[in-house]
Amino acid sequence: MTPNRFYIEQAKEFEGKTVTLRGWVYQRRSSGKIKFLIVRDGTGIMQTVLFKGECPDSAFEDFDKLTQESSVEVTGILRAAPRQPGGYEVGVQSLKILHIAEEYPITPKDHGVAFLMEHRHLWVRSQKQWAALRVRSEIFRAIQEFFDKRGFTRFDAPILTPSSCEGTSTLFETPYFDGKAFLSQSGQLYGEVGAMALGKIYVFGPTFRAEKSLTRKHLTEFWMVEPEMAFYDLEDNMELGEQFVEHIAQTVLANRARELEILERDLKKLESIKGPFPRISYDEAIKILEKRGVGIPWGEDFGAPHETALGEEFGGRPVYVHHMPSQIKAFYFKQSDSVGGPGVEGNGKYALGCDLIAPDGYGEVIGGGQREENVATLRRRIAEHQLDEKDYSWYLDLRRFGSVPHSGFGLGVERTVAWMTGVEHVRETIPFARTPNVIRP
Ligand code: 4AD
Ligand code: MG
Repeated sequence: MTPNRFYIEQAKEFEGKTVTLRGWVYQRRSSGKIKFLIVRDGTGIMQTVLFKGECPDSAFEDFDKLTQESSVEVTGILRAAPRQPGGYEVGVQSLKILHIAEEYPITPKDHGVAFLMEHRHLWVRSQKQWAALRVRSEIFRAIQEFFDKRGFTRFDAPILTPSSCEGTSTLFETPYFDGKAFLSQSGQLYGEVGAMALGKIYVFGPTFRAEKSLTRKHLTEFWMVEPEMAFYDLEDNMELGEQFVEHIAQTVLANRARELEILERDLKKLESIKGPFPRISYDEAIKILEKRGVGIPWGEDFGAPHETALGEEFGGRPVYVHHMPSQIKAFYFKQSDSVGGPGVEGNGKYALGCDLIAPDGYGEVIGGGQREENVATLRRRIAEHQLDEKDYSWYLDLRRFGSVPHSGFGLGVERTVAWMTGVEHVRETIPFARTPNVIRP
């Protein structure tokens, strides 16, 4: 590697020095004896200035050949320029053209989303896309940091799986030699194995749902981080989720100020993501929805209007909804007869679940809860859900050999990135979104 290789984001360390900036032409402007070349290098954007007389005439001529996204090497003195993005600029001494770009399809005019998604391989170079993907990367870092600092072990779950975790209706099926396999909807069941072996673990990887939902929150392939903890009850689980989300928001605020500025994010919204978050039972949520004119019958799941209404009720803060109707929850939840009551062995009206609903329509970012630890109850639940017990024999073993109360949750990375960045749709929070009608590029 070249010693002292220069990147825009490290400009401060190079003030007054001669630097070579390697990157792509973002914009050009000229007025007589002075020409401005705005270059992006992947870590930021910087203005470079060509003065007639101060750089070779050839550089002045080369400037005129440059098109948007041409690649260049610019050498010159780095100096403070408080009014420029990033606060610095380069006084050009030499300009080397690496490649003249053909006519670039993405121009400052408004393009439709379909066009931009078809050109995603180029669209990711645009400022807002760049910023959102940098925040995404920061969130991955913050996630690992949070769990690693708390003594969790990363425990990877397989992507090719023999059975379902979140219901059979959203499974992607694939041939697997003489049989078939499914792409993982969630690593949770394997995470529970990990919790019994290592105490506190997190599964982190891509997950898949064959859901034909064309909404701002749904992808068919998304990333999920799923902590699972032995000896944690529902309360412990909610508390961990709260600290986790606070850590993510505060880390993004502290480390990604420039990106948030480009995204025009209202920082107050991130500053306010601090625990404790309001917690309400599903029953209370139903009453609030009724009062806000978007009532639903008891036992139905929330849709977008209901999640938005809950966000408004709590003044733009995230809210935990717990004790959902068992009838709409997966087979593995521990159940309870009453809200706030202890879990029961047997059929209860409520599932010990906890969903964290983000404000401003970003929807459910965390789904989780306490797991059923009794083998007989779990077997009955598997049957009630018309699942084949054979597929879950290993999972039942966790309840046969030292069963303990345990809990966990899954946080959807793309919904979290959307919420933190203020980006409206999850398709702009992952390099290559997969939705029912987008599989290219
Ligand atoms: O609520 P879900 O389905 O929960 C589970 O999969 C549990 N097994 C997790 C666990 O307890 N370990 O999904 C968890 C989260 C949701 O809250 C949401 O953030 C995200 O995953 N998610 C999606 N994100 C984007 N597109 C989709 N289609 C998503 N479905 C779920
Ligand atoms: Mg859910």
